[in-house]
Amino acid sequence: MSNEFTATQLLERVTTSRVAPGNERVRKIADRIVGDLFRAIDELDVQPDEFWAGVDWLARLGSAGQMGLITAGLGFDRLLDIRADEADERAGRLGGTPRAIEGPLYVAGAPLARGESRLDDDGPHPGDVFVMEGRVVDTEGRPVAGAVVDVWHANEHGRYSHFDPEQPAYALRRRIETDDQGRYRFRSFLPPGYAIPPDSPTSELFTALGRHGNRPAHIHFLVAADGQRTLTTQVNIPGDTFIDDDFAFATRDGLVLKLEKNVAAAGYESLGVTGPFTRSRFDFVMQKAVDATEADPQARLARALA
Ligand code: DHB
Ligand code: FE
Repeated sequence: MSNEFTATQLLERVTTSRVAPGNERVRKIADRIVGDLFRAIDELDVQPDEFWAGVDWLARLGSAGQMGLITAGLGFDRLLDIRADEADERAGRLGGTPRAIEGPLYVAGAPLARGESRLDDDGPHPGDVFVMEGRVVDTEGRPVAGAVVDVWHANEHGRYSHFDPEQPAYALRRRIETDDQGRYRFRSFLPPGYAIPPDSPTSELFTALGRHGNRPAHIHFLVAADGQRTLTTQVNIPGDTFIDDDFAFATRDGLVLKLEKNVAAAGYESLGVTGPFTRSRFDFVMQKAVDATEADPQARLARALA
């Protein structure tokens, strides 16, 4: 048998040579992606130096832990949400708070509180004292007691604890269990927007693409409850320059908060509020889960590896 082959014959060998069945699904996806890349190299006449520069960039991206930043910036995270929305529409699963991307910066195991919590107790943090409050309800408007609202946001420099060595563990991250009436509330401050790390593999690509790497100010949520479909979403702070120009394409209609300024402190003493503050009311509406997996209070990676 000859060991000289054309590109087409090589691809055929790459995708069919095997000593074991392996994993059928992995094989199918990998074969398709390899085939698409072979074609791209051919059609774009990718030069060896370009190819190896790309490989080196991927290696640096991985060792910087920035793979998840690139998927969001290239639209993949929102793509998966669009596909999930379309599948829901086909299945007639309407209603509920819109989903929004998890992003790469979730950390499991944040401190758990009942009913209310301060997120900012590692502070002081500058900016308005901010309280967000509301209920978790089902699609019929009934309160969901014992739902866990897992919330996380960036600090005043746009950085997230755990990924930023300057911040204590779980700073600006909490889990809040809703009370009998499905209520949650938390105190924090209004976070600024986020920008991809400068001088990093991620910023290198975005500079080469002529794109910015800014996200508008936002707060993340992962809401889970027995019998309800786990909801991953974000809310935006109104007035941000990048609200309609998010590098991760994750802003969604219906998820921009309304802020009430100069709210009186009465009734908020347990959160350490002593003067006028900024409040936002927001209810999370959860869909009923169709199976136990959907109600599993796990983030995407834990789900994927389960
Ligand atoms: C990215 C950062 C975020 O804060 C986020 O919510 C989504 C994506 C990113 O850097 O890719
Ligand atoms: Fe974020």
